[in-house]
Amino acid sequence: MKIDVNEEFKNIKRYETDVLVIGAGGAGLRAAISVAEAGLHGIIVSKSLLGKAHTVMAEGGAAASLGNVDPRDNWMVHFRDTMKGGKYHNNWKMAEVFAKDAPERIRELELYGAVFDRTEQGKIKQRNFGGHKFPRLAHVGDRTGLELIRTLQDKVVHFENIDIHMETAISKLLVENGEVTGAFGYDRQSGDLLLFEAKSVILATGGFGKTFRITSNSWELTGDGEAMLYNEGGELTDMEFIQFHPTGMVYPNSVKGTLVTEGVRGEGGILRNSEGKRFMFNYVPEMFKDDYATTEEEADKWITGDPNARRPPELLTRDVVSKAIRSEVKAGRGSPHGGAFLDIASRRTPEEIKKALPSMYHQFKKLAKLDITKEPMEVGPTAHYAMGGIKVDGVTQETNIKGIFAAGEVGAGLHGANRLGGNSLTDLLVFGKIAGDYAAKRAKETTLKKPSEQKIKEAIEVTLEPFKDGNDINPYEIHAELREKMEEYAGIVRDEQGMKKGLDVLYEFLERSKHVKASGDSRMYNSSWHQSLDVKHMVITGIILTTAALQRKESRGAHTREDFPKPVDDLIKVLYVISKGPDGKPIVKEELYDDLPADLQKAMEEGEDA
Ligand code: FUM
Repeated sequence: MKIDVNEEFKNIKRYETDVLVIGAGGAGLRAAISVAEAGLHGIIVSKSLLGKAHTVMAEGGAAASLGNVDPRDNWMVHFRDTMKGGKYHNNWKMAEVFAKDAPERIRELELYGAVFDRTEQGKIKQRNFGGHKFPRLAHVGDRTGLELIRTLQDKVVHFENIDIHMETAISKLLVENGEVTGAFGYDRQSGDLLLFEAKSVILATGGFGKTFRITSNSWELTGDGEAMLYNEGGELTDMEFIQFHPTGMVYPNSVKGTLVTEGVRGEGGILRNSEGKRFMFNYVPEMFKDDYATTEEEADKWITGDPNARRPPELLTRDVVSKAIRSEVKAGRGSPHGGAFLDIASRRTPEEIKKALPSMYHQFKKLAKLDITKEPMEVGPTAHYAMGGIKVDGVTQETNIKGIFAAGEVGAGLHGANRLGGNSLTDLLVFGKIAGDYAAKRAKETTLKKPSEQKIKEAIEVTLEPFKDGNDINPYEIHAELREKMEEYAGIVRDEQGMKKGLDVLYEFLERSKHVKASGDSRMYNSSWHQSLDVKHMVITGIILTTAALQRKESRGAHTREDFPKPVDDLIKVLYVISKGPDGKPIVKEELYDDLPADLQKAMEEGEDA
């Protein structure tokens, strides 16, 4: 099809706002609340339907040191756990703010109307999760993410100064002279081209788990925010750290990767191999030896509520548990479908299981014809979460492009080399609010800068490229191949040779992705058009991830290299910051985190001793 850019330009639908929020998961919604409360106008655009974000996939709870179940908990222990879980590679400024603000954000959510499970005293109940020293996850059964989204959404729709555009995809950020002027996209239903002019833009677009074959992620997570910012000169970091959640479903094939909440282990579930052995005792890393039980007897004291018992090793951090399951499978001790057995049936009564884990009960009944109150589940690692993403200022969440902020999974820093389960929901609340506050502040202090006609026309070209004459590549084929290759060359365990091969293939995909074709001429709900644009983003994130992973010559947290199997102390504070070079290829720059200041060092030690 011939694209007449001048004609398209005349027909664009135009919107003006103070703050444009891209993404309607927990971070985007919480950011919009801040914008509305600052008395400004905001627009939320969502690729999907409101309420259907990946946030719902954080099922087990939101971490905050409320101390409702164990009063020994406080922000210092949460700070220490977050840093330790992230293998000390975290942005400590973010980790400090996070641990301090988390309880307030949860109480605020409660005031907004969120439903939580309760203790006998009527306080918000908290459950155990991997890497958290005390029961810390505020939850409602195993549907916490859903409740968080429902609550925030309910709050947002009652603001008259927030407009919501559902099923709206953004295809290009508009940046001129190092400053944002808005974003360009289209309505997925009608195919109309849309221009959003804004003083500030918040990216809350999530991660890029869809780049992998086995993933818990929903279709939206295609690295849009990361890739679009990179295309405009933005900086990404920590892209080598991608979290494989240890427990995804391994069968039936059609649902492989679907999340099995860590809440199962939080409620006492244990992992066994095909020989019936509780193998996690063999995988406790040195750094966690003081925190985790070394015998079944000791671990079982914990399940009976002994406050001084060390935790069972099934509650080690996700990087450790995923690799342990992988090793068992490789050693020929895997379950029939290539995972491990996760058993809650022998640990809790059917009533307790159905009450604490209702979604898991139904998920396995419906999808695998298995009753988890009677039989163990089969589980294995699934790509779940990107610790890396857009580099942000630790105080304001602003990116290196003026006026663009990032919050939630798309932002990097808080979680370091490995995220603790339950820290993501709270991350969305804490940093969604901060991004919203600072984006609103900037919007108040600045005037709207109009995007130039030339920029808008560039955006039209980018958006309609898949309809161009001569394109002949099927975007679904690239996606299918990409997912295989990412799993093979940049998965749980990596090495230089594999990643180099992987990069060669990824650059081929990049070339091919320039010629992806939307089928037919209609723009009305043309899913191959959507996929064409998504796949370009996924290829870019795949290249950046692999480039960063090649650069990091050590094993740390979720980044494991067979050729560099140990962590290197000198690399703890090293960040690989990636931006687009003049030849279109990523440039890697090394930066260093500052040393932990004395007060935080002290907080960490107090957290350790708690
Ligand atoms: O296992 C889970 O429920 C996931 C939680 C998370 O990723 O934070």
